[in-house]
Amino acid sequence: MIQHDVLIVGAGLAGMRAALEVCKDADIGILTKVYPSRSHSGAAQGGIAAALANSEDDSWEEHMFDTIKGGDYLSDQDAVEDYVRAASRVIYELEHFGCVFSRTPEGKIAQRSFGGHSKPRACFAADRTGHAILHALHEQVLKNSKSIKIYSEWYMHQLIVENGECHGVVVTNVRTGELEVIQAKAVVFATGGYGRVYKITTNAFASTADGAIAAFNAGIPLEDSEFIQFHPSGLYRQGILFSEAARGEGGYLLNGKGERFMEKYAASRMELAPRDIVSRAEQSEIDAGRGVNGEACIHLDLRHLGEARIMERLPQIRQLGIDFIGVDCVTDPLPIQPSAHYSMGGIPTDKYGQVVIDAEGTPLKGFFAAGECACVSVHGANRLGTNSLLEATVFGERAGKSALEYVKNVGFGKINEGHEKARVLNSIEEIFQRDGTESYNDIRNEMKDVMMEKCGVFRDGQTLKDCISVIKGLQERCKKGKVTDKGKLFNTEIYEIIELGNMLKMSEIISTAALARQESRGGHFRTDFPKRDDEKFLQHSLVYSGDNDELVLKSKPVVITHYQPKERTY
Ligand code: FUM
Repeated sequence: MIQHDVLIVGAGLAGMRAALEVCKDADIGILTKVYPSRSHSGAAQGGIAAALANSEDDSWEEHMFDTIKGGDYLSDQDAVEDYVRAASRVIYELEHFGCVFSRTPEGKIAQRSFGGHSKPRACFAADRTGHAILHALHEQVLKNSKSIKIYSEWYMHQLIVENGECHGVVVTNVRTGELEVIQAKAVVFATGGYGRVYKITTNAFASTADGAIAAFNAGIPLEDSEFIQFHPSGLYRQGILFSEAARGEGGYLLNGKGERFMEKYAASRMELAPRDIVSRAEQSEIDAGRGVNGEACIHLDLRHLGEARIMERLPQIRQLGIDFIGVDCVTDPLPIQPSAHYSMGGIPTDKYGQVVIDAEGTPLKGFFAAGECACVSVHGANRLGTNSLLEATVFGERAGKSALEYVKNVGFGKINEGHEKARVLNSIEEIFQRDGTESYNDIRNEMKDVMMEKCGVFRDGQTLKDCISVIKGLQERCKKGKVTDKGKLFNTEIYEIIELGNMLKMSEIISTAALARQESRGGHFRTDFPKRDDEKFLQHSLVYSGDNDELVLKSKPVVITHYQPKERTY
């Protein structure tokens, strides 16, 4: 059995930042199903938020208010305060780790505007900010390789939880196909989100809800799962991200008639309204037949910025357009559509990264989470752009600190290795034994279609009921699937089938929580309940696994400290 004081699952920003805390005084393993520098954090483009005030006056208080208003008042305000107060410190720390931020003419870290932020506070490295930070952190992790062992291309199946304490995980080495137990005094999940349940998404192939569902299967509820963010500028039909930085630099959104339609939806902020509002505006234009050439897309127009500015600030966007659809944004507008981008919900934690299992804040000892897989909740019902890199960094550090503190005072728990392995082995064997005719690819595509159509930017009671029923049907069909590769070595097919099972469960949870929330707030818009209803729904949702695979819904209060909810207009 492999042993580490702390095992971190996920090697994106949150996981690696946590590792840098833990390695100060404990032995640590980082497990990732890809390779650290291929983590989805590297896809983040436009920036990381902090009120540095390098180009305009700014303050953490304004950042706090913008975040809470942007989240439609569902954020826990005590957590938001800690988070925005930490922002400037972590930016300078990242700089000292070697992150190459773009600069002002005086040599300060440059900052640009982003949606929902009242001041330019996105610190950036051209349009490759996530990539720059990810590599800087990876270098720091490699520098500390004496106390950090990295398990690249290992797949995590399940958490080991006994009597309210977490003792490790069951995993497979993808290369050999060997099942292993990793025993740890503490486990930190930094496993990312689950945008891959949608057909059109900016998310990497790895964003398949593995961490969320492993936690859910261990009896931990998932919080605020109904809140999915659609990014306004994913490449039409493919979802590849064209950063909001394009609008931060002055880009326009145009409908099929060539109109800057945001004037009708958010006149004071135009293209830089929060993402939920811009995505709904785009979808409304498309649904009204004002898409470009009658298609389900609109235009992102950067031509007026000129080649020099585009090459300095947005070089990756230009290259993506050229590489994927042969469109050069210097001379032509880019076709875009709302694309699933970020999960506001996730594994509930307190503001120190400790996973909690109920409204009373009962901790699951030895289990911590940070980054997109966690719900702290700082983003409430809608995250502002550039707040997620900050979240991963701030709460990755905090979860690492908490895990380190925890392991100083506990020993290794008892694990029945044979029993833990057998549970996973049996479920894998069951998949290998299936000898049906259903195609897992078809099932996956149908899941993505139905989530996009019935649980997307706009939802209502009927579409959500339909969605749940289709998802349940797909779960049944999975039982009649057929595996073509029965080998052990690098059998990616089996992991894709397991991921599909996780995504189907996640889809059921998202749509069930969305059906229960009979109001519209942030990224969750119910056409049958178009208003926010603070009286009934100013609360976080919690979805638990109940008997016979049924979902059990509960709720917990929102922490309000400074800002009472009021109407959200832009
Ligand atoms: O558009 C973007 O660059 C994405 C940033 C974010 O989601 O924070």
